[in-house]
Amino acid sequence: QIYKASTTAPVNIAVIKYWGKRDPKLNLPTNSSLSVTLSQSDLRTHTTASCAATYPSQDSLLLNGQDQDVSGARTQACFRELRSLRQKLEKSDPSMPKLSTLPLKIVSENNFPTAAGLASSAAGFAALVRAIANLYELKENETELSRIARQGSGSACRSLFGGYVGWEKGSKEDGSDSVAYQVAPASHWPQMRALILVVSAAKKGVSSTTGMQTTVATSSLFPQRANETVPRRMKEMEKAIQEKDFEAFGNITMMDSNSFHATCLDTYPPIFYLNDVSRAAIKVVEAINVVAGKIIAAYTFDAGPNAVIYYLKENEAEVAGLFKAAIGEKEGWTGIRGDAVLANNG
Ligand code: DP6
Repeated sequence: QIYKASTTAPVNIAVIKYWGKRDPKLNLPTNSSLSVTLSQSDLRTHTTASCAATYPSQDSLLLNGQDQDVSGARTQACFRELRSLRQKLEKSDPSMPKLSTLPLKIVSENNFPTAAGLASSAAGFAALVRAIANLYELKENETELSRIARQGSGSACRSLFGGYVGWEKGSKEDGSDSVAYQVAPASHWPQMRALILVVSAAKKGVSSTTGMQTTVATSSLFPQRANETVPRRMKEMEKAIQEKDFEAFGNITMMDSNSFHATCLDTYPPIFYLNDVSRAAIKVVEAINVVAGKIIAAYTFDAGPNAVIYYLKENEAEVAGLFKAAIGEKEGWTGIRGDAVLANNG
C-alpha cells in the first residue's frame, strides 16, 4: 500500500531581508524579517509526499525530475522532526499505520527557475514540510510547522502563511521561538501587486547560505544593520502594512533592499548580486516615482539580479504598463510576470 498526500506552497519575497545566521545548524537568523507571499497561481512548488514498505529503503527527493541529495543536514532535520511527530501520534493511537518507519518519496515541481534568486528554496521546503505533515496527518499548526521548515531553509518558514508575514528571530538557543507569524492576511490589503522581472534564470553565483555567513564574518556594516536598522524597520513596516501606507511600505522596502546589497558589497570578498539590468530597473522605478510625485512603485532584490516590483493595482498602468512596454526594448530582461498577492495559506 502507498500512502500519499500533495500540496503546493507559494514563493514569498522579503521586504525586510533575512541575511545572517546566529546559528547555522538550526538556521537561526541574526535579524527578524518580513515578506509578502505571492499568489499560488504563479510562482509555486507542487509537492507530493508518499511512503510505502515496498519503496527502496532510502528516502528520496525528486525536484523537476532530477534526483536530489537528501543526506544534507537540512533535509534530514525536516524528515527527522516530522517523523518524530508522527511517531507520537502512532504511540498515542496504536491503530494508526506505522508510517514513521516507512521510506519517504518526495516529488516536487517548481513552475519557475530553481535557485535563480526567486525564492525557490522557500517554496520548496514549505511544500515539503506541509506535504509530509499532511501525509502523516499531523495536527501541528502553521507556526509549529514554520519552526520545522525554517531548518530546511530560513525563508521557507514564511511561505507557510499567506499575505504579509513576519519571521521573529527569537532569542532561545534551541530556536523554538524562531517562527513565522502572519502580520496581516492578503485580504487586508488586496490591492498589492508584485511584478517579477526575470533578468536571468541562471543559477545564482554565491548561494545565500554561503553568502550570508561570509557577510557575518567580514562586513563591518552588518552589525549596524542587524542590531539597529532592521529592528527599527520591522516596526515601521508592520505599521505601514496595518495602515496600508504604500509610500512608507515602498520606501522601507527599497531602503532595506539597498541596505542588504550594501552589506553584500561590504563583504570580503565582495558579493555582487545586482547587475546592469537590475540597476536599470531601479532607475525605471525612480523615474516612475518622480513622475508620480510620490512613491507608487518599490523594487527589491534577493540573492540574484531579478527584480520584484511592488505596486498597487490602481497604479497598474503607470508601473506594470511601463515595465511591460520597456521590456521589449531592454536587452537582458528575459521575462516578466505580473502577480497578485496570495489570499490565503494553501
Ligand atoms: C536574500 O532562506 O535561501 O532571499 O536559510 O541558508 O536557506 P538559507 O537561506 P535563504 O535566504 C534568503 C535570503 C534572501 C532574503 C529573504 O528571503 O529574507
